[in-house]
Amino acid sequence: MDLPTESTPAVIHAPEAFRAACDQARAGGRRVALVPTMGALHAGHLALMEDARRRVGPDGLVAVSVFVNPTQFGPSEDFSRYPRELDADVARCATAGVDLVFAPSPRGMYPDGDQTRVRVAELAAPMCGVTRPMHFEGVATVVTKLFALAGPCVGVFGRKDYQQYRVISRLARDLFLPVEVVGLPTVREPDGLALSSRNRYLSPADRARATAIPTALRAVRDRYARGERSVIALLDVVSQGLAGSVDSVDYIELRDASELTVPLTPLPSEARAVLAIAVKIGQTRLIDNTVLGEVDVTLD
Ligand code: PAF
Repeated sequence: MDLPTESTPAVIHAPEAFRAACDQARAGGRRVALVPTMGALHAGHLALMEDARRRVGPDGLVAVSVFVNPTQFGPSEDFSRYPRELDADVARCATAGVDLVFAPSPRGMYPDGDQTRVRVAELAAPMCGVTRPMHFEGVATVVTKLFALAGPCVGVFGRKDYQQYRVISRLARDLFLPVEVVGLPTVREPDGLALSSRNRYLSPADRARATAIPTALRAVRDRYARGERSVIALLDVVSQGLAGSVDSVDYIELRDASELTVPLTPLPSEARAVLAIAVKIGQTRLIDNTVLGEVDVTLD
C-alpha cells in the first residue's frame, strides 16, 4: 500500500500569482477548491481542507488562503492580537495535503485607492450584524476578492460561523460568481466545545465554563426532539442552560436556517431553524449554533 506523502505547499503572496496558479490548474484540467481562513489553523480547518480534497480529487488543486482581514474587525476588536503564525499554518496545511497557500499582505488585498465594498443587506443585519455592524461587509468584501482571484472553484467553509456561511452563499449567488459554496459541520472538542482559533484566549477556568455552550445546544435539540415547537420555550432552554456559566449574552436567536428571518411560532413541522448564540466568557466572544429540524452529527 502506498503511504500518503506530505509535501510542503507552495506559498504565494501576490494576488496575480494566486490567480495565475488557479488559472493554470484549470487549464490543465484540474478542479480548484479554495478554503479561505485567517490562519491559526486547527483541526476544524484541516477537516475543511480534507473535504476540499475529496471534492476536487487527488489531481485537483486545493488552495488555502491565510489572511487576517482588517476590514472585518471593529475598532475595539482583536485585530492586532489575532494570532499570526504562517510557518506553522503552512506545516499544518502540508499534513492535510494542501497544494497551495495564498498569504497576501493587507496592501496586496486592499491596494492604495481601494474603495469597493460588498454588502449583503438582510442576511448580514441581525445576530452578529447588530453588535458587529461592519463585520460582514468586511467578510463579504474579502471573500468576493478571493473568489475573483480563484475563479471557478468550490469554496469550503465551516458552519460554526453560520451567518457568515449564509452571507457568503448569498453573495456568490447574487453576484453570479462561478463558485460552489459549501458549508461543513462544526468540528468539536471531545466535550463538545466548537473548535475556534479564539479558544486559546480562554483561561482554564473559562474553558471549563465554556462547555455550557454545547450542553445548552444539546438541551434544546433534546427539547425539540420531544416535540417542543414554541420559539420562546426553545430560546428559554438555551438561556437557562447558559445562565451562570457565561459572563454576558450577545444574542440567543432562533431564525429560519436559510434566510435568517424570524420564524413563525410554533415552528411549522417542515421548518429548519438555526438556534444561534454569541456569548462572552471572560474577554472571549464565542459563537455556536445548531439547526433544528436537521440532523446535527456534531451534537446528536
Ligand atoms: O471565517 C474566517 O476565517 C473569515 O471570516 C474568512 C471567511 C476567512 C474571511 O476573512
